[in-house]
Amino acid sequence: MRFTPLLFAIGAAAAVLPRDEPAVAAEAMPGSKASARLEDQKPIDGGIKKTIKYNPVKLAPNGMINANIPAPEAPCTDCFVTAVQANLMYQDGSEANVDTGAWLHHIVLSGSPFPGMLWAAGNERPNLRLNTVHKYGFDFPKGMKFGINVDLMSNAMQEKTVTLVLDFEYLPKSNATGYKASYMHWNSIGSPKAKEGVYSFTAANWTSTVSGQLLYAIGHMHDGGTNSRLYINNKEVCRSVMIYNARPHYTVTKENQAKNMEGSEMGGMEGMEGMEGMEHEDAEGETDHGHAAGSASGGEAPPAPAVEWHISDPGLCENFGTIKKGDVMRYEAEYNATKYGLMMHDGEPEALMGNMRVYIGPE
Ligand SMILES: *[C@@H]1O[C@H](CO)[C@@H](O)[C@H](O)[C@H]1NC(C)=O
Ligand SMILES: *[C@@H]1O[C@H](CO)[C@@H](O)[C@H](O)[C@H]1NC(C)=O
Ligand SMILES: *[C@@H]1O[C@H](CO)[C@@H](O)[C@H](O)[C@H]1NC(C)=O
Repeated sequence: MRFTPLLFAIGAAAAVLPRDEPAVAAEAMPGSKASARLEDQKPIDGGIKKTIKYNPVKLAPNGMINANIPAPEAPCTDCFVTAVQANLMYQDGSEANVDTGAWLHHIVLSGSPFPGMLWAAGNERPNLRLNTVHKYGFDFPKGMKFGINVDLMSNAMQEKTVTLVLDFEYLPKSNATGYKASYMHWNSIGSPKAKEGVYSFTAANWTSTVSGQLLYAIGHMHDGGTNSRLYINNKEVCRSVMIYNARPHYTVTKENQAKNMEGSEMGGMEGMEGMEGMEHEDAEGETDHGHAAGSASGGEAPPAPAVEWHISDPGLCENFGTIKKGDVMRYEAEYNATKYGLMMHDGEPEALMGNMRVYIGPE
């Protein structure tokens, strides 16, 4: 798997550490439960919900597309976006996910020239909300150029047409009394090589440049990950537990696997209609991105009827304290490949990932 280094190597200083046992019991720590889905949440403070469907994309059998969507529609301008969630759909409106071979490998939202990187997510498709208690949102200033980078992947042998869907909630600045822009720090271990067993990685320390509320954090990991830990001045404040196979389309059965293998190998990258001008990867090796059937490289059997382990929900840490300018933030990503196996493609384990975007509400 090739990742866009710009997106995933930020602040990377990964080192394999011996596993140290936690000083605090997991139950006492924020991060053991998934977030509510955005569609199940009522708007807060008169927030406006908006769903944007971007142009459909054809994903070749076993294909992969990394692309910047040209001039993507933004939910609003001169506003605060208070919640966002991504999904991938087929043309009949059903969810495109690992059970039918389609992965939202990653999505990154940005705003230029300011405020920069806004949000990113993987196939766990989490709901980010910044205003459950405190009044913060992503700043979408007037004149901001909105950017979306997506990485889509298929492990099915049939061509798939998929649509990226983003659900937003926002407040126009004229109706955002008391609201301020959030600040995000992106912790990352980079993309170290996968291996068997139990181990952890740590990201580079970050000395906070802001004081404020810790609004929101979740870990993003690859299959095999058990949890993502956040420390402030050496005290653990969040442990985002990786929850597997908890939503329907993350459950891959033997039948799913067989169905995804049906059809002929067409190979190559197919049409990119509706997304002209997008960058995409070299043709070389484009037919080899599928996760091998029975994707995990060993690992325990998941609860039936599933035959693969896939992360569906990272545990949410929300409104979990404060940080002060000068405090030291540290991030650790823990893996147990013995339990969950590793993500495989083309017979090789995929590089690992561990990142945690921590959203802070500056004072
Ligand atoms: C936005 O407007 C609605 C309707 O007038 C009002 O109820 C709400 O409090 C306003 N929200 C903010 C944050 O100003
Ligand atoms: C990271 O910060 C912690 C204090 O929070 C310190 O104990 C540790 O030595 C630092 N690590 C590095 C590599 O600087
Ligand atoms: C890793 O997973 C194996 C298999 O489920 C389990 O026996 C072991 O206790 C786990 N190790 C840790 C440190 O959780």
